[in-house]
Amino acid sequence: MREMLENICKQALDSIAEAKQSNDLEAIRVKYLGKKGQLTQILRGMGKLSPEERPVMGQLANQVRGDIESALSSRVKEMEEMTLAKRLREETIDVTLPGKRPPLGGLHPLTTVLNQVTDVFLGMGFSVAEGPEVELDYYNFEALNMPRNHPARDTQDTFYINENILLRTHTSPTQIRVMEKQNPPIKIIVPGRVYRSDAVDATHSPIFHQLEGLVVDKNITMGDLKGVLDVFAKRMFGEKTRTRFRPHHFPFTEPSAEMDVSCVTCGGSGCRVCSNTGWIEILGAGMVHPTVLEYGNIDPNRYSGFAFGMGLDRVVNQIYGIDDIRLLYENDIRFLSQF
Ligand code: PHE
Repeated sequence: MREMLENICKQALDSIAEAKQSNDLEAIRVKYLGKKGQLTQILRGMGKLSPEERPVMGQLANQVRGDIESALSSRVKEMEEMTLAKRLREETIDVTLPGKRPPLGGLHPLTTVLNQVTDVFLGMGFSVAEGPEVELDYYNFEALNMPRNHPARDTQDTFYINENILLRTHTSPTQIRVMEKQNPPIKIIVPGRVYRSDAVDATHSPIFHQLEGLVVDKNITMGDLKGVLDVFAKRMFGEKTRTRFRPHHFPFTEPSAEMDVSCVTCGGSGCRVCSNTGWIEILGAGMVHPTVLEYGNIDPNRYSGFAFGMGLDRVVNQIYGIDDIRLLYENDIRFLSQF
C-alpha cells in the first residue's frame, strides 16, 4: 500500500507539473482527490489493514493528499500569474500615440459677423435689445405707421398665425417696444431673425437676419445718422470703405435713405459681386417719423431720433465673398467648415 500511495503521489505531482491549462488541473484534482479518485479509493480500503498499519498508512495518505493539494494550488497560482503577465504584455497601451481628435464645431459665419457688428456698436455706446420673432401686427406694422391696407405692407408679406399675430418681417417692431419702456436717451441695436413670404433664390430666403439700430435723444440729426453709420462701415469693412446715402421711402422714417458701401471685393472699381456698380446696398435708415415716436410715447416736439435696419446676411456675404444666401441656411458641413 505504501508503494501504491507513493506512486499515486509521484504521478499526480508529475502531471500537475506538466499541466498546461487550469482545465487540466481540475481534471487532475478529480482523478486523484475526487469522490471516485484514486486516493479516495485507497483510503476506503484502509479498513482491511491491520490496526498497527492503519495509523501509519493513514498518516502517509494524508500527507500525499496534502502534497497534491498544495502542488495543485501553487500551480493554479502560477498559471494565474502567467495569464496576467501575458495580458499585460499583449494589452500594453502606448500612451505616446496621438489621440483621436473629436470633431470640433465652430461658429456659424452669421454668428461671427453678428459678434463683430455688435462689438462695433457697443464701442460707440449702444446696448443690445431683443424682441419676439412671433410679433403682433400692431408692433410690426400699425405702430410703425403702416395701418391695415397700407400699400407698403405689400413689400413685407409674411406668415400669419392669425389676423393679429405674425412672424415679424423686420426688427423695427422692437423700436416701439423699447420706446414704450424706456425714456430717452435711447441708444440700442436689435439683432434678430426675421421672416418674409419670399420664394427662395440666391438672394432671397424666407428667413434672414437684420440688425436694427435706434437712437433717440434731444437734437439728434441726420448728421448723427450719417456719422455713426460711416464709422460703422469703416470699422467693419476697413478704413478705405466709402459710404453713400440714396433717398428712399419707409413709412416709419422721414426723411429716409438707403446706405451703400463701396464694394469690399473690388474696392469700388466694379466686379461681379457688385454687378459692376462698385457699391453694395446694406441698410435702410432715416429719421424716426414723429408718428412713430408718438406710438412709443415719446414727444416728437422734444425729441428726435434716427433708426436703421441692416441686412446681416448681406454683410456676411460681402465679408466672405459668398454669392448665394441659401448656403447660410443649408447647414452643409462642407460649406460651414471653411469658416
Ligand atoms: N425695417 C426696414 C426694412 O426691413 C429697414 C429700416 C429700419 C429702415 C429702420 C429704416 C429704419 O426694410
